[in-house]
Amino acid sequence: MYGMIHRGLRDMMIERVGPEGWAELEQHLQVGPAEFISLNLYDDELTIRMIASAAAKLEIGTATMMRDFGRSWVQFAERGSFGSMLSFTGRTLGEFIGNLDRLHQAVIVAMPQARVPSFVLVEDHGQRMVVDYRSDRAGLEPFVVGLFEGLLDRFGLRGSVLEIGEVPGGARFEITIEGP
Ligand code: HEM
Repeated sequence: MYGMIHRGLRDMMIERVGPEGWAELEQHLQVGPAEFISLNLYDDELTIRMIASAAAKLEIGTATMMRDFGRSWVQFAERGSFGSMLSFTGRTLGEFIGNLDRLHQAVIVAMPQARVPSFVLVEDHGQRMVVDYRSDRAGLEPFVVGLFEGLLDRFGLRGSVLEIGEVPGGARFEITIEGP
């Protein structure tokens, strides 16, 4: 994946374990600045290895790690050069999810080799939404749960995210918003 993803992971980890903890992790992974160039493309194997080592460092499972990373990714993206793009993507959660593919199409302009996912808002009942996620990668569903949780945070909403089934090439998620 592009180095921007690695930078997001590094930010999250420095927040959790501090700069010294992160330095230990870099040493363990045998990575340095060369692995964190935003517009460089790296093998997915490296990204997955970083996530697995970060999980071990935090003493949490890989799925929990991916979910936490998804949630913090939204904040990371808000702070970065794509932050303003997020504001154009939607003023409500439903509108935002409906425009996610457009957001990633804009990402491809800067990162032409990105293999981006696809999201389809299948149902939007206001308090309950159903979204289909498709990707040519496998196993990223916990990351998607965290990303939707990050979007709930972004819109100041409380709610829950559940993976409710499979669709060809991906998975179906249900987002339930609590409260008025
Ligand atoms: C400004 C915000 C965002 C930027 C700049 C961004 C950018 C990217 C980039 C660069 C990749 C890696 C693709 C690759 O290297 O092959 C990626 C992957 C991904 N993005 Fe985004 N993204 C953003 C927001 C979101 C949001 C809000 C969601 C979902 C709610 C999302 C879901 C995903 C998922 C699930 C992947 C993993 C790829 C896969 O499933 O195959 N992204 N994104």
